Amino acid sequence: VERSFVKQTLKGQHWVITAGPTVEAIDPVRYLANRSSGKMGYAVADMAAKAGAKVTLVSGPVCLEAPTGVKRIKVESAQAMLEAVQNNLGADSVFVSCAAVADYRPTETANQKMKKSGDEGLSIELMQNPDILRWVAKNSSAFCVGFAAETQNVSDYAKSKMQRKGISMICANDVSRCDIGFSCDDNELQVFYIDNGNIEERQIGPASKSQVAEELIKVIEKVRHSNQ
Ligand code: CTP
Ligand code: CA
Repeated sequence: VERSFVKQTLKGQHWVITAGPTVEAIDPVRYLANRSSGKMGYAVADMAAKAGAKVTLVSGPVCLEAPTGVKRIKVESAQAMLEAVQNNLGADSVFVSCAAVADYRPTETANQKMKKSGDEGLSIELMQNPDILRWVAKNSSAFCVGFAAETQNVSDYAKSKMQRKGISMICANDVSRCDIGFSCDDNELQVFYIDNGNIEERQIGPASKSQVAEELIKVIEKVRHSNQ
């Protein structure tokens, strides 16, 4: 990766990046969440800021420091993440949706810690969370980049997800592999994007998440400009 990139390529741009899991409260001490370290999203935020962009990082609970020069907004639930994105997105922002958003939340959150009773099991009723990426794709003119963590049929699921969400770029991650993805410092992405109406594909990595982030930013810039 050539180091020259780090110089101000994204000056004047605003990037909004979601990262980490969302956590959906069941009661004051319990929640439902997705597995996510936040490392990929934080690496993209860090690299975008190093390249000169103004960066807003909307982050679920993770054990990472905010990258230098990045405005971090901490959230817990998917609904709070959606609101933070809505409040910070500009007309020509780039939106990179790295967060592992919980698809469902408990229909009701108990005000007090729930107590066990007898030997019975427990059912919790869930309702669907808003789809943040789909909302942004539909309601703003931001250039949207999605992620798709899959355990099987990785490229087919990713391509259909890209179309379903109305976005022109998606990064697929095979999380069934134990050398990349969850909690790892390394990653490999299969990037699909629409270029002149055709679906193009390219692989980034395997490499460190910061190298993958740098390469990804270059691909985003290329695709944005060729689709203009
Ligand atoms: N995403 C989002 N809001 C949601 C769910 C997903 O913004 N409520 C975003 C993720 O950040 C990711 C992309 O959508 O960039 C794909 O997420 P994924 O969970 O793979 O897709 P889903 O549409 O939820 O499909 P499924 O989980 O059933 O595979
Ligand atoms: Ca999902």
